[in-house]
Amino acid sequence: MAKLYVNAKNKLGKINKEIYGHFSEHLGRCIYEGIYVGENSEIPNVNGMRTDVVEALKKIKVPVLRWPGGCFADEYHWKDGIGPKESRKKMINTHWGGVVEDNSFGTHEFFELVEQLGCEAYINGNVGSGTVQEMSEWVEYMTFDGVSPMADLRAKNGHEKPWKVTYFGVGNENWGCGGNMRPEFYGNEYRRYQTYVRNYKADAPIYKIACGPNVDDYLWTEGVLQTCTDPMGRRARDFMNGLSLHYYTVPGNWGHKGSATEFDEKEYYVTLKKTLYMEKLIKGHGAIMDRYDPEKKIGLIIDEWGIWLDVEPGTNPGFLYQQNSMRDAIIAGINLNLFNKHCDRVKMANIAQMVNVLQSVILTEGEKMVLTPTYYVFDMYKYHQDAQLLESSIDTEEIGLEEKNMVPNLTESVSQAEDGTINITIANLSATDSYPVESILLEKEVTEVSAEILTGKITDYNDFDNEEKVKTAVFNGIVTEGNTLKFTIPACSVLHIAVK
Ligand code: AHR
Repeated sequence: MAKLYVNAKNKLGKINKEIYGHFSEHLGRCIYEGIYVGENSEIPNVNGMRTDVVEALKKIKVPVLRWPGGCFADEYHWKDGIGPKESRKKMINTHWGGVVEDNSFGTHEFFELVEQLGCEAYINGNVGSGTVQEMSEWVEYMTFDGVSPMADLRAKNGHEKPWKVTYFGVGNENWGCGGNMRPEFYGNEYRRYQTYVRNYKADAPIYKIACGPNVDDYLWTEGVLQTCTDPMGRRARDFMNGLSLHYYTVPGNWGHKGSATEFDEKEYYVTLKKTLYMEKLIKGHGAIMDRYDPEKKIGLIIDEWGIWLDVEPGTNPGFLYQQNSMRDAIIAGINLNLFNKHCDRVKMANIAQMVNVLQSVILTEGEKMVLTPTYYVFDMYKYHQDAQLLESSIDTEEIGLEEKNMVPNLTESVSQAEDGTINITIANLSATDSYPVESILLEKEVTEVSAEILTGKITDYNDFDNEEKVKTAVFNGIVTEGNTLKFTIPACSVLHIAVK
């Protein structure tokens, strides 16, 4: 019997709602078709945004959306995406499939989407191929409330009032697609560019995010933080509020990443093992950040995470369209539990990507829409948003098929919402075995318990001809004895328990 201890008296910190954030890039069918179909589309829409997708996203309470990239961000020139649509410049999306980008989705459309979703805006600026002036004018265009060339231009384009930019990324992957820079060079560029990301609203300062490392590139983290610390006594936190980290789970290698739906148990455990590496990265980069920022003022912003697989057969390789199985759900469960547990440093995370690209929560085909297993995990975990992380631990055993790829059978995280409800989320990583669990709630009187579960075979997925093969169901298997909950968690499942 695995024991799960929860100490309701020990609150460890706030789980920022932004940990449940999303990422949408001008890539394949993410923005175009997946989200934006245009006002004249036969697909039901409000101001061009598909109604079905927006409604589904509202249900999981998307807290923040990152846009326009990704690699696309460092090639994006925002002025091409404003003004009358018929006169907007067309460009080649060189990174993603070489298709024509007609710029019909630009700044105004993004904020329309943000308003419909009711979420925070995370804009990613262009350092790689853009100028300081271009970046600074974009910030002025979006946020300045008064008379200025950019505010006047915004008003001329139909939006008198400024928008709220909560987060601003100064470049993306500048060690790679964003300019192939070295950490010291980027660090200096960052210092310069961020200077002109002006805070026009004193009461709502923009949270500035520096480009952080790729996976385990600790030299990058060190180099950027070091460059942003100077003899004049200024510290990295005087220049940045956040530092990003990108880590994708790739089951195979970049040449043969692996199929989204056809894999065996061995590959399943390899994938989970690689996912769990996220914790090492959080701790490793976190330790460097601790030296430069012991008070943890700088957030670790994991603004690209998820599983990256081979594209679905017959689809454009540049569009990164992949299916999403129960394995994806387990990956989401593992990562989100980890982010919750490290909420002292992890302040935002953005799954890549929201619709039709990589580990999406939604897939679309024409007017049809499918919610993926990952969607249901976000739906069950939404109760952690802005809740207080509670001290918790669970007994685990090592499982797997190969000695080098063993993983713990269970992962969990627990939080307490403002109304006192304790929300427990547990992932059972085993492909085959269920486990009895005894959950002991210290310092908590249990009056009411409800639960929901997502479970299936590791390769189960939803498709356009079978939309609901995987979906959450009410879980009635909990027996309450005083402040102890007893239940058996089925193989390959993600469980959410709400305790009042
Ligand atoms: O999410 C796809 C791509 O992955 C992004 O554009 C880039 O930042 C990363 O390499």
